[in-house]
Amino acid sequence: MFAHGLRARAQIRRPHAVLSALALVVLAILALRGNGAPAPVTAPLGSRAAISHGVGAAAGSRRVGAAAGLTPAQLAGQRIIYSYAGLRPPGSLLAAIRGGEAAGVILFAPNIAGIAQIHAVTRELQRAAAASPVKAPLLILTDQEGGVVRRLPGAPTLSERRIGTSADPGGQATRAGTGAGQTLRSAGVNVNLTPVLDVFRHAGNFIDRYGRSYSSNASTVRALGGDFITAQQRLGVAATAKHFPGLGAATRAQNTDLGLVRLNQSLTQLRGNDEAPYRRAVAAGVKLVMTSWAVYPALDPRRPAGLSATVIGRELRGRLGFRGVTITDAIGAGSLAPFGSFGRRGALAAQAGADLILCSETNPYANTPADGVAVRDAIVAALRDRQLGQLAAQRSAARVLALRQRP
Ligand SMILES: *[C@@H]1O[C@H](CO)[C@@H](O)[C@H](O)[C@H]1NC(C)=O
Ligand SMILES: *[C@@H]1O[C@H](CO)[C@@H](O)[C@H](O)[C@H]1NC(C)=O
Repeated sequence: MFAHGLRARAQIRRPHAVLSALALVVLAILALRGNGAPAPVTAPLGSRAAISHGVGAAAGSRRVGAAAGLTPAQLAGQRIIYSYAGLRPPGSLLAAIRGGEAAGVILFAPNIAGIAQIHAVTRELQRAAAASPVKAPLLILTDQEGGVVRRLPGAPTLSERRIGTSADPGGQATRAGTGAGQTLRSAGVNVNLTPVLDVFRHAGNFIDRYGRSYSSNASTVRALGGDFITAQQRLGVAATAKHFPGLGAATRAQNTDLGLVRLNQSLTQLRGNDEAPYRRAVAAGVKLVMTSWAVYPALDPRRPAGLSATVIGRELRGRLGFRGVTITDAIGAGSLAPFGSFGRRGALAAQAGADLILCSETNPYANTPADGVAVRDAIVAALRDRQLGQLAAQRSAARVLALRQRP
């Protein structure tokens, strides 16, 4: 944690104007988040209320300054998580990263032959990021949930279900978070797309099928998810609560990878049960929240959660007070077929308030950086045509850059 603070301060002294502006935005956002981070000495800190009042004037103009330094492709690129197939990152991906047009890269099983191999890859990716005009470390993401959903060999080996039904669930959730953090750090991965906070309804349903839900009791999920997040983030690896507002009601056949999924529980059920674990996750300072691709008619009858401004803006940011980074599930999901090309889906997600767009296919062997490029270009076009507001884009980029500096 201390090392991260040193890096942020060192960056401020660099003479490059763009970098200074970016660093100021990052510091402003870190201060606003009030997430327990040690206050950088140069930030104008007062009470949290005083900081909030400063947003409109001081921090607002800093954001404009930062955006002036980013090209439209770099501004759009701060939303893009790229993917690829194979053991070596393709030249086109390294070029996008060197150009400052990438926020991060997600790793799947086809990318990974072992810890040493993938650590060499993550170092190569970070070298490309260090050579870009946007001098922030890259986000490198994977799904290290536990049980059968683990991309890297090693901890955590217990599934969420086994943790939830163990003799010492809290202790096991903490050990899983620590184990996941250690495994990912050893490979240079700085974001884990877990914990799963879905509250399963029926044994063997979509999320319980592989033991991915801690419990059918929301209080248990809430406690164990919080324990995992705290333990893992202590090691400097960001956690991602998913799949907001909850996939626990999906039946075994209701898989958003394959087709449209409509979850019709009442607003009372959604808020009282499915969303309950997120309050603790937000209080624990979870860095990211991933939205689901199911449609929840009680919240928004027309759009899947990840394309819905109501779900992201009103429910997650407004009602639950989440200030961190929002991320979509994979843009290639079958449930998004009615929304057109990957580019169009990505632009819709950005309009709805998704900070990061996960540009991968449902079949990881088909992953290609071209998907990320298509979404980046669609967001550039949306900015140009004013389908996407400049200020909203700058705010998203600032949240992402803050996370990149301090995952
Ligand atoms: C859920 O778990 C909490 C805390 O462990 C417990 O107090 C409560 O009785 C449980 N609810 C049900 C329906 O089992
Ligand atoms: C949700 O839809 C299913 C059919 O897909 C139906 O059986 C169930 O009664 C509905 N539940 C609610 C709460 O409307």
